[in-house]
Amino acid sequence: MKVISIANFKGGVGKTTTAINLAAGLKKKGKKVLLVDVDPQSNLTQSLGITEDIKDSVYTVLRKEAFGEQTKITDVLMTASDLDLIPSSLDLAGAELELASVYGREQILSQLIKPLKGYDFIFIDCPPSMSMLTINALVSSDYVMIPLQAEFLPLKGLRSFLKHFELVKKLNKRIELLGFVLTKYDKRKKMNRQIKSELEEEFSEDLIFKTYIRSNISLANAQEKGMDIYSYDKNANGAKDYNDLTKEFLSKF
Ligand SMILES: Nc1ncnc2c1ncn2[C@@H]1O[C@H](COP(=O)(O)OP(=O)(O)OP(=O)(O)O)[C@@H](O)[C@H]1O
Ligand SMILES: [Mg+2]
Repeated sequence: MKVISIANFKGGVGKTTTAINLAAGLKKKGKKVLLVDVDPQSNLTQSLGITEDIKDSVYTVLRKEAFGEQTKITDVLMTASDLDLIPSSLDLAGAELELASVYGREQILSQLIKPLKGYDFIFIDCPPSMSMLTINALVSSDYVMIPLQAEFLPLKGLRSFLKHFELVKKLNKRIELLGFVLTKYDKRKKMNRQIKSELEEEFSEDLIFKTYIRSNISLANAQEKGMDIYSYDKNANGAKDYNDLTKEFLSKF
């Protein structure tokens, strides 16, 4: 069982889209996958078709675990669009403050994930900030995967992420950087090509996924419809790219 956080401080770079379509791609290949939404925006949960705010979410079990109540993460497990999901809810936004004084607050999610069995991969979709929730995700993880949009100069933000990542390593020595994935990529755009080569200059080759995800409106439409890209349009560029990413991802294990 490998636990992978999908994180980047920057918003809208394709974290949630990558979590869904990588999970769906792995499931197609017969892998057992669990998605965990720790973003109070609940985009992952909503993108799997759960549009009403739910009562029992990751927030419920985080609170119980933090305050020493009997609980397990599977108490809030659900199936959405055919994928196993630990959903988020809007009240998760309050967790940061509520749990601020809890001893060992960085380890709460990790304690909940540890007893899980039977999954090949667990993906944790993080909010776009280094919040207590992101730290909890990283402390629970074996790897972090970083989607990057080649549209704006992302390297400054990346360096800041990597600085924080070094601090997280003090709390979780086993975590490794699995790699960067370029998303919303358009090779006709000079800026996109430029950022790709800057990334290649700065980081070692094995830290950059060879597969990049092209800009593809079907990915956004699928998300809006509460579907993964393969169910929405298996011939879309997005389906091909995420299928390639799934294969490359698997080759790393
Ligand atoms: N390759 C792509 N091509 C076109 N649109 C995309 C692509 N990837 C993601 N999108 C769309 O861009 C928007 C942001 O993507 P997504 O929600 O995955 O980003 P995020 O990093 O999770 O954002 P946040 O930081 O807010 O959680 C969504 O509307 C999504 O459907
Ligand atoms: Mg997101």
